[in-house]
Amino acid sequence: MKQEALRKPFLDYKLAQEIEQSFGTPCFVYDLDRLEIAARQMLSFPHVFGLTVRYAMKAAPTAAIVKFFDRLGLFFDASSGFEVKRLLTLGIAPQKISLSTQELPDDFPDLMDMGVEIHASSLEQIRRIGCARPSSRIGLRFNPGLGSGSTNRTNVGGVASSFGIWHEKKDLVLELLRKFRLEVFRIHTHIGSGSDPEVWRRVALLSLQLVDEFPTVTHLNLGGGYKVARVSEEKATDLEQIGSPVSQEIQKFFERTGRKLHLEIEPGTFLVANAGAVLCRVQDIVDTGNNGFTFLKLNTGMTEILRPSLYGAQHPIFLLHPENRQAEMQNYVVVGHCCESGDILTPSPGEPEVISTRKFPRVEIGDFCFIGGAGAYCSGMATKNYNSFPEAAEILLDHSKRPHLIRKRQTLAQILQNEIVSEEFFLLKNNLIY
Ligand SMILES: Cc1ncc(COP(=O)(O)O)c(C=O)c1O
Repeated sequence: MKQEALRKPFLDYKLAQEIEQSFGTPCFVYDLDRLEIAARQMLSFPHVFGLTVRYAMKAAPTAAIVKFFDRLGLFFDASSGFEVKRLLTLGIAPQKISLSTQELPDDFPDLMDMGVEIHASSLEQIRRIGCARPSSRIGLRFNPGLGSGSTNRTNVGGVASSFGIWHEKKDLVLELLRKFRLEVFRIHTHIGSGSDPEVWRRVALLSLQLVDEFPTVTHLNLGGGYKVARVSEEKATDLEQIGSPVSQEIQKFFERTGRKLHLEIEPGTFLVANAGAVLCRVQDIVDTGNNGFTFLKLNTGMTEILRPSLYGAQHPIFLLHPENRQAEMQNYVVVGHCCESGDILTPSPGEPEVISTRKFPRVEIGDFCFIGGAGAYCSGMATKNYNSFPEAAEILLDHSKRPHLIRKRQTLAQILQNEIVSEEFFLLKNNLIY
């Protein structure tokens, strides 16, 4: 599918109306066709001696999406013990799960015994694994010294990043491996989300140098970071272009060492970003006079889509009208419904604190709004329940564009269910009640 087509809405006004009538708005809508196309593209990533594609499930952890990718043959990358358990609860085989985490869960030995593969991401993690399960096989996540993300906050490589073992600490790593008789079978690097393809390629080559230093390694995992173009100013990563030079290097590595390296990649964004959208309504329009701005207030915001406020991320926004409205284009600032001046859907690119405008043909209160590129890091990474807005419903469009509910809208009772208020709190010293 062409990048330009991927940026367009995958539903029209009529379908939006049908979805709203059945499930309400705001809601997330995912398109099964687009999920499948992206997964098949990733499964064709250039490789020489075998390929495993792991879905970085943090991008969109909803069960229906995870199960669909499982059926297509994808494996999984988890970032916390809870993500691992979420996958196991969904029936994902432990052998299909790897864990690269900032916080090793207390029960990691049980997960290892089940077959979950852990990438130790610090010297302390190696030590803990060694103490709990000496003589086991482990993966190592390195910080290769270079990073690249679409913003500083999504860059997880280089000196300013705490992710992975600093690449110069190889001797300390070897010492720990010897001490606990651990065998390294996989080297893992992930340098950021939305990485510059050239930096990604350079890091792939640096990672191969690391593999050289660990003779027992059979698998090389190059992480995620493959760009998609959500808006026309962005350029998607060409998988063939970044993957082919790596294949050539893996081939040369084999010719030099006789070692056949199995390649792994773990995309999140690429698989889901342009397959998901937030469907919502314009619920108010206000302006700040002749020298000010006109604001479209949506019935969504950072409660569903935090990336613009967090990173200054750009998402395409389309107004869906019942008629083909022929009206003059006007400039609008699009804002969310939270009581937070930072809840902006049209920040300046990369500058969450600066507002910018988008042009739309005259907008009316009640118009549907389709916010594209919202499949990754939106439903799973929002300011959940801020202002007590319930978690939005999620809908999946099947291959015939029939909408299916895959996550119900949260209720107020569910928001409150874990809270406890006891009369004891209010007892004064002399047994008086406030
Ligand atoms: C270890 C790891 N692998 C893969 C990914 C997926 O990255 P992306 O969504 O940019 O493909 C991430 C995202 O942060 C990650 O931390």
